Formats: sequence, C-alpha cells, structure tokens
Amino acid sequence: MAFRSPFAIPRQLLVGTTSLGGRSAISSRLRCNQRGLATAVPPVTQDATGSKGPTAMVFMNMGGPSTTDEVEDFLSRLFADGDLIPLGRLQSYIGPLIARRRTSKIQKQYADIGGGSPIRKWSEYQCAEMCKLLDKISPETAPHKPYVAFRYAAPLTETMYEQLFADGFGNGKGGRAVAFTQYPQYSCSTTGSSLNELWKWRNRLEGKRANGGSEPAGAIQWSVIDRWPSHSGLVEAFAQNIEAQLKTYPEEKRDQVVLLFSAHSLPMSVVNRGDPYPAEVAATVHAVMQRLKFKNPYRLCWQSQVGPSAWLGAQTSDTVQEYVKRGQTDLILVPIAFTSDHIETLYELDQEVIHEANNPGVKRAESLNGSPVFIQALADIARDHLQKGELCSRQMTLRCQGCTSERCLGQKKFFAGQEHASMVV
Ligand code: FES
Repeated sequence: MAFRSPFAIPRQLLVGTTSLGGRSAISSRLRCNQRGLATAVPPVTQDATGSKGPTAMVFMNMGGPSTTDEVEDFLSRLFADGDLIPLGRLQSYIGPLIARRRTSKIQKQYADIGGGSPIRKWSEYQCAEMCKLLDKISPETAPHKPYVAFRYAAPLTETMYEQLFADGFGNGKGGRAVAFTQYPQYSCSTTGSSLNELWKWRNRLEGKRANGGSEPAGAIQWSVIDRWPSHSGLVEAFAQNIEAQLKTYPEEKRDQVVLLFSAHSLPMSVVNRGDPYPAEVAATVHAVMQRLKFKNPYRLCWQSQVGPSAWLGAQTSDTVQEYVKRGQTDLILVPIAFTSDHIETLYELDQEVIHEANNPGVKRAESLNGSPVFIQALADIARDHLQKGELCSRQMTLRCQGCTSERCLGQKKFFAGQEHASMVV
C-alpha cells in the first residue's frame, strides 16, 4: 500500500538535530467561532460564580485543515516543528519547501474525506460539552470556559491565548487555565510539542517567570493534564465502540474476530530516546482488552510510517494484508490513540487499508467523536485534576533518557512549578 501521508519526506532530510522553525505573528484577535465551527465563549470576570472559578479549559491537539485552502499552511507549520520532525538547522527553510511540494497531493486527500478535517468541529464540541458537565460536577471551579489550541491549524495557540485575554483571563487579571492534552498517551512529539508551544507563547505574551520563581503580576496560572491512557471512562468508551462493531458479525463468529488496535507510529530514533508513548499506548490496549474480558485475539500495530528510516512496527497496512492472506478475514481496526476522526482514520484506514483489503469482514470501530461516555470521561478527568490541585503529573517531570533539548527542560520546569521544578532532570 502506498501511503500518502503529510509526513512523507526525502531520506536526506530525515537527519539532523531539532530546530524549531519560525512562526507567523498573531494574525488577529479571532474568536474561536470563526466560520461558525466553534462554540461562542462569552466574556467572563474573575469574580464570577464559582469560588475558584472561572476556569479556562484548553484542549490541545495537532489540529487539521478545515478546508483544502488551509492545507499548505497546515503542512508548513507541521514541517517546521522540530519536536515532531527533526530536520536540523535549516528546518524553517526546508519545512515550507517540503510543505509546498506536498500540498496538492494532501489537498486531494482532504477533498476525498469531505473537503477538510473534522477535528476542529469535534474538539470544539467535546470541549463545550465537557464544560457543561464540569459546571455541574465541579461547581466550585465554575464557570468552565471551553477553548481549543491546535499546534498546526486554526485556532493556533497564540489565537487561543489572545482569546483568553479578551475573555478576562491573564494580562494582569490572573485566573486559572488548564491545558488538557487530547492525546491520551504522552509523546514528546505531540503533547510535548504542544506544551513547548504554549510555554513559548506564555513567555512572549505574559512575560517570563522571575529568577526567584515569582510570576509576572496577574499572569494566568496554568496546570496541565498531560496523559490519561488508562482512565476507566476512556477505556469504557473504546470498549463500547468495539462491542457495537462486533455485533455486526454473526454470533457464532464474533469471538474469533481479531481486534487490531492502530496508533500513529514513531521513528525509532524517538522511541530509543525514551519516549513514553509506546508503553502508554500499550497500557490503553491492555485496559480495553481487560474490560472486554480478553474474549478476542488482538494485536497492537502502528500506522502512518513514512520515509526510509526505521519506525516502530508492525505496520497496520502490512498486518491487515498478512492476516487476510492467511485467511483471517474478520478484522476490526480500532484507532486507539486519537479522540476523533481525522485523516488517518477517514482516509488512511477507511480509504486505503480497508479498501485495499477488499473483504467485507475487515471493518473499523467508530472513533470517539461525540460519544457521551467519552465526554463524561473527559469531565471526570478534569474534575479530578481540579480537585487534586496538581500542576502536572509526576511522570511529566522526568525527561526522556536521551533528551538533550533545552526547550523540553525549560518547559517542564515551568509547568512543574516552583515546588517540583527541582525534580525535572
Ligand atoms: Fe522527551 Fe525532551 S525529548 S523530554
């Protein structure tokens, strides 16, 4: 199968050290509901109803182009991100070149899935619905205000930050915000990159923390939900979607259907640096199988590998082909590392892997999208975080064994706060 991913880049460019490319300035104080996709966020005041509220809840994710016209900008930012794709010192020059070369091909993929990525629509819906639940189950931190910050597409981190200012947070007014990663399993390439970006904009827009650890007056107080790979609500939401798809097979065959959990792969250079993602994805898979009482055989495989360098395998496409060749034609693909549909489910799995398997027994479990069980899980995770008063998990204070990035070090010290900054090594 010829995978047509935005990550496909020439071999000679897949070497070098990490270097973050340039970023465009904040284009405007756009509200998150431009193009009618977002939930309107009314202005809030710091003395609103809850004794500890209001609380800004910021969903972080990679994002995707909502229209085909946004594809080139999306790819430019993606290839400029040295945390995701290290291209060396010339990253900010090479990244946009690769992006331009790939734009028309990727535009066609987005056209084939309906003209754009649904990730913005789902993220804004999930965040808004979660905030409504949070207002009920955590009234002391209400009102909860929904925001979305994408790494490579609108609304970008800087746009979200300006919106926080416009809504009465920070910029001298203080207030509390929670950066809630929408990658359930932590990788330095994904959540780490989003936190690096948030830390950068926080310093640019609100000033740096002083040497003694004191914050600029009236700056937003940030805390982070950095991972939640085996939360029981997440596990239940995945399990229910798998059970719904299993029911489409005849009862006598149901227990023999193979479950193929599929997650975005990582270059082995990132895995060998000590990235926690593979272990956390495996933890999610094991917890889901436990909930399903291990009734079906299963495997974890990895998709979207590109380029000639070594990536974590086995590849999802090869796995499907191999099992079908051996006569195992009842397979359910389960996207296990993303919380809504995106090009890797709608195009790569549905239009490439399943289409090429050419067998009616090869199917896919629905993505979490608008699952009420999932949205309740998000609210439970957020409530627990708010009640605990933790700035981030202890796990986040430990850098990868092979990490040499000053940016990772500074970001982790910032989010760990004064109390735990000394634990960051
Ligand atoms: Fe993992 Fe820096 S690369 S902490």
